[in-house]
Amino acid sequence: MYTQGLDIKPGDKAIPLETGSSEAEQRFQERIDRDERIEPKDWMPEGYRKTLIRQISQHAHSEVVGMLPEGNWITRAPSLRRKAVLLAKVQDEAGHGLYLYGAAETLGVSRAELVEQLLSGKAKYSSIFNYPTTTWADIGAIGWLVDGAAIMNQIPLCRCSYGPYSRAMIRICKEESFHQRQGYEIMLTLARGSAEQKAMAQDALDRWWWPSLMMFGPHDADSTHSDQSMAWKIKRFSNDDLRQKFIDATVPQGEFLGLSFPDPALRWNEERQSFDHGEIDWEEFWRVIKGDGLCNRDRMRARNKAHDEGAWVREAAAAYAEKRAARARAAAE
Ligand SMILES: [Fe+2]
Ligand SMILES: [Fe+2]
Repeated sequence: MYTQGLDIKPGDKAIPLETGSSEAEQRFQERIDRDERIEPKDWMPEGYRKTLIRQISQHAHSEVVGMLPEGNWITRAPSLRRKAVLLAKVQDEAGHGLYLYGAAETLGVSRAELVEQLLSGKAKYSSIFNYPTTTWADIGAIGWLVDGAAIMNQIPLCRCSYGPYSRAMIRICKEESFHQRQGYEIMLTLARGSAEQKAMAQDALDRWWWPSLMMFGPHDADSTHSDQSMAWKIKRFSNDDLRQKFIDATVPQGEFLGLSFPDPALRWNEERQSFDHGEIDWEEFWRVIKGDGLCNRDRMRARNKAHDEGAWVREAAAAYAEKRAARARAAAE
């Protein structure tokens, strides 16, 4: 997972449209228009570089923080099989963070700097991970809905104009599709189980549905960076379009489970061949983004603790690298 339309915040100024203001920028835009990939050593406008660093690093942070809500259930998974699958899934998310920090580094920023921005609270990550996982069914709902929303967001990024990001996304999307299926399988098992199990699945859907829709970010009209990101082909579809696609794909899956969605306005629109739906609670969205969700403080505390406790690993790795470099220097003399 998990990009979110975090490219905007209220009062944030859009990065100025730079295209066409110099010959280099014009050539750059022509390459994008021809669907060529931009590689790390190619010339690029500063705004393009900054937009990508922000987006890729927020994405990487989300992968890493995203391990916490599910990690909560590894020791309590109901069977050995469920435990092995969940462990593999959570490890995948760590790998996604790793590829993405690597992709961000090709833009000339260090991983240490990006991690520092996360730990100090300066950088954002997806709001969805600030909600608690209170029952086992939440693990099903997260895989089905959260990874499902992530796939919808991320498939278009496989064609992003920046080469290292687009290539990382191809592998990530393959793994996300496994995550989505494992979540849906948990939901299916619960929905076909005892009345208590079905109620547990319904309760998880009730709690995760709206936060999942928030993952697509604010309405297009409130998204100030969108036009430039579209012109640069960093973004291919608008937040609202992706959200609608997700709803249209997911509602029939929920109906198959025999569960209901917590949105009384949700109904099929024959004319549009799409589902109409109710309005997101944007106040809640902004509150969680700004740090006041149920688990924001817990998540940051857990990340900071893990970072502090990993200091000896970083020191040992640096000492080992220095020893090897010294040996190589001695051998060359
Ligand atoms: Fe992921
Ligand atoms: Fe995932």
